[in-house]
Amino acid sequence: MSKKTVLVTRKIPEAGLSLLRKSAIVKICSEIDDTLPEREELIKGVKTADVIISLVTEKIDLEIMESNPKLLGISNYAVGYDNIDVKTATELGIPVTNTPGVLTDTTADLAWALLMAVARRIPAADKFARKKQFKTWSPNLMLGTDISTGGLKKQKTLGIIGYGKIGKAVHKRANGFDMKVIAHDPYQKGTIEKTFEYRELDDLLRESDFITIHVPMNEKTKHLIGEREFNLMKKTAFIINTARGPIIEEKELIKALSEGKIAGAGLDVYENEPDIPDELIKMENVVLLPHIGSASTDTRNEMAKLAASNATYLLNGKKCEFTVNPKVYESEAYENRLK
Ligand code: GLV
Repeated sequence: MSKKTVLVTRKIPEAGLSLLRKSAIVKICSEIDDTLPEREELIKGVKTADVIISLVTEKIDLEIMESNPKLLGISNYAVGYDNIDVKTATELGIPVTNTPGVLTDTTADLAWALLMAVARRIPAADKFARKKQFKTWSPNLMLGTDISTGGLKKQKTLGIIGYGKIGKAVHKRANGFDMKVIAHDPYQKGTIEKTFEYRELDDLLRESDFITIHVPMNEKTKHLIGEREFNLMKKTAFIINTARGPIIEEKELIKALSEGKIAGAGLDVYENEPDIPDELIKMENVVLLPHIGSASTDTRNEMAKLAASNATYLLNGKKCEFTVNPKVYESEAYENRLK
């Protein structure tokens, strides 16, 4: 039997590519690191591919999917899949898979790194030290905000929005800081209520000292946090976003920060990536990262292996456990693609 073809939109770690090469022909649209494939080049590649492995930087829409009536699936190299028009994929009979689990801890670690960095002013202090401005220890030097109970022995509250795998992993880490943890997630309400404290979104925003976002980006969560929500937060609160940029209305975040409605923000994601607004760049109470939530060598290797394994299921016309639109397997449109 002749080998099928997998189109990888951009170079992913060799750990995944070598797995794929065992059973398929692997074509990489953009082999040069950090170069995005041209759209035309992408469409051309999709036309002769059986399965695509896509990255969050590629918008996989109707035009791309329609360009190949025999496309057997899309394996996204990410847990989030808002870069793919899943509704259209389902209508066209195309399964879409993602890479949950393998990046949970790495992303939760990064949410915590951002939280701690912004609360304790780590980037500003690092810059200060490098500039050789550290002349003497001082009682007033670089004063930040406590995460654990601190000098006042006053417990801080962490509000987790989205209690999926990553939200839970963030919670686990908060226990080490003796924090009170509250969470909002309509899909997990029962689970949360059984073991700790559920909050409606507005109450969570009012009560939290630190707010961290772990929901997927979709029509319901776009601009979940805007002007009204910032008005509910404590002036001393910090917001952390390692999920997707558009969940926060960025212009309202900038307004809230500049008007002192909240104390600071730790951001790994932005509304119009890779653009980061100048206003945010100028603010000292904001820590900015270039979307590196899952960026550890081991985790990226595991993501590549999982994306490759998912792609192999799709290539063979088999149901894959990590399919985000599993109903597609029952459809006639999917059956037709297998013929
Ligand atoms: C990265 O942002 C991911 O969704 O895995």
